[in-house]
Amino acid sequence: MILITGATGVVGREAVRLLGEEGAKVAAVTRNPHAGFPAGTQLVHPAEVATLDGVEAILLSPRAVGAAAAGLLGHARETGARRVVVLSAVTVQYPAGQARFRQQFHAVEDLAKGCGLDWTILRCADFAANTLAWAGQIQATGTVRGAYPRARTSTIDERDIAAVAALALTHPQHAGQTYLLTGEQSLSQPEKVAAIGAALGRALSFVEATPDEIRRGMLAAGLPDEVPDRLLGSLADYAREAGPTTDTVRRLLGRPARTYATWATDHSAAFSSGGQR
Ligand SMILES: NC(=O)c1ccc[n+]([C@@H]2O[C@H](COP(=O)([O-])OP(=O)(O)OC[C@H]3O[C@@H](n4cnc5c(N)ncnc54)[C@H](OP(=O)(O)O)[C@@H]3O)[C@@H](O)[C@H]2O)c1
Repeated sequence: MILITGATGVVGREAVRLLGEEGAKVAAVTRNPHAGFPAGTQLVHPAEVATLDGVEAILLSPRAVGAAAAGLLGHARETGARRVVVLSAVTVQYPAGQARFRQQFHAVEDLAKGCGLDWTILRCADFAANTLAWAGQIQATGTVRGAYPRARTSTIDERDIAAVAALALTHPQHAGQTYLLTGEQSLSQPEKVAAIGAALGRALSFVEATPDEIRRGMLAAGLPDEVPDRLLGSLADYAREAGPTTDTVRRLLGRPARTYATWATDHSAAFSSGGQR
């Protein structure tokens, strides 16, 4: 059985789907007893993970597992699991933003490397799905207000991360590998907004705002400090130096990484008026 933590996230949900399609037995960890998954998927509450037997491989989502990571990996090792795949971040290798965020990923990587299981680390660029945060503004005004327009990253389509994760969870040759997963195109924020506009068939604009204005807006919307801290810190650094670009997805999957334009087309409903995420 393959255990997917963070199973209702954009990577976890796709990993559950792909592995189920391949015929794997999948256990999806979620706090939500009503989370819908493909037939045959076993739903597991986080509190039940420590009682599960028969887990062969684990997809570890640091945000979902938090401080329970050491206990989860220890139990898995004792009950015969063989491998763990960690959803980490490129910032561990290419520092950007506040150190405390990349240190959290570093700590989970170290746990995985020291737990006695075969490990694979997926250091991911910023997910394309992060730009769903623009959906409300685009629906309401056709304009995105943001700081650091020149910040460039090779955003990755989360479906490509899930495809690599599914591979690493089921094939032993990825043991001991650290993969830097990015898209293949380095795009600025206005270029990403333009790609969404092209997918919608209407012109959208990006208007530069000060970092303070963006922070105040996020806090007024009820978001915790951590959200602007994480976002603005990394954008400031990516405006000075673009995030990394790799062809790892192409090398591992035998096809190019999905482009941001493809992601925008596939998610255009989320950005159109009355759209759903
Ligand atoms: N977004 C990025 O750009 C980026 C880049 C690099 C790495 N990552 C990492 O990639 C992983 C997957 O990201 P994702 O966006 O697919 O998933 P996510 O939305 O961060 O989390 C997936 C699920 O985990 C559960 N969860 C989230 N926060 C939790 C908390 N504090 N306590 C307990 N459960 C929690 C929720 O499931 P239920 O409510 O169903 O329990 C949530 O739907 C994360 O660990 C993230 O840190 C993200």
